[in-house]
Amino acid sequence: MSCPVCGDTRWKIVEHGGARRAVRCECWRASSIERLIAEARLPKRYLHCSLDNFVGYENERLLNAVARARRFAEAFPVVDKGLFLIGPPGIGKSHLAVAVLKQVMVTRGARGLFYDVRDLLKIIRSTYNPEVKATETDVLGPVMTAELLVLDDIGAEKTSEWVEETLNLIVTTRYNERRLTIFTSNYEEKEDRSDPDSLLARVGFRMHSRLYEMCEFLEFDGADYRHRPPNAGPEDLLAMWRLQARPAVLPRRSGAPARAQLRTPDPKADVAWPGGRAGSGH
Ligand SMILES: Nc1ncnc2c1ncn2[C@@H]1O[C@H](COP(=O)(O)OP(=O)(O)OP(=O)(O)O)[C@@H](O)[C@H]1O
Ligand SMILES: [Mg+2]
Ligand SMILES: [Zn+2]
Repeated sequence: MSCPVCGDTRWKIVEHGGARRAVRCECWRASSIERLIAEARLPKRYLHCSLDNFVGYENERLLNAVARARRFAEAFPVVDKGLFLIGPPGIGKSHLAVAVLKQVMVTRGARGLFYDVRDLLKIIRSTYNPEVKATETDVLGPVMTAELLVLDDIGAEKTSEWVEETLNLIVTTRYNERRLTIFTSNYEEKEDRSDPDSLLARVGFRMHSRLYEMCEFLEFDGADYRHRPPNAGPEDLLAMWRLQARPAVLPRRSGAPARAQLRTPDPKADVAWPGGRAGSGH
């Protein structure tokens, strides 16, 4: 027995105007939130993520994305559009998506669900194997009906007709039912519509246009948090981000992200970076 109030019946008796009636015990709320979170498939790595432990720094588009994410979480479920977080690796897109998902589960009791798009496709594909007990409907049902769904890393999957059809079915169903979805992606919008690395090319025309109707697009860049030094604070992240924007000074690593060339060097970026990324060669 863990609840001293109700003896784990989840109900307690209260007296109101001389009448006695049963109401939900406080532990019921706690246990149902626990269950919601356990069923949301949040990756362990992101369990700690919240909007409050997201480190903001002087980066307008990143701060705007955090503010929009916060507004979404606070207004949920009275929100028209989902969110689409776009940007380079390690800037906190999945962190923000999970933070919002957790917040609406805790504060609104919403049924939330998280899937990395490639994992989801792999799991759906596995249900075609007769030895696997789960059916396609077992997997797709919750994906279609979750009150808030995070589809992480869309565009990273290898495309095929089946992949496109499957994702279109999921997105269109949620769209028709007016269910909210948060997407993240590394693939940005490109002016050259035929660029194979554009979001449009990665997800296809139909999906692309749906996404615009369904989501507020939040494109941002920033420091790769995975490369931060120990105990990094906002100043360190700002310095890292600015250093990334100095292609003339930084020796180019092969495979370095192309965005380093796109941003104009920041004159204020003269920040010494002890043992910084420039020389660390990883
Ligand atoms: N501003 C931040 N404050 C606190 N933690 C952060 C911040 N940005 C990223 N992180 C943490 O850094 C790690 C990487 O971030 P995350 O996975 O969200 O990046 P991402 O933008 O989704 O990258 P990718 O494109 O590779 O998926 C996570 O553990 C996340 O919690
Ligand atoms: Mg991510
Ligand atoms: Zn109780």
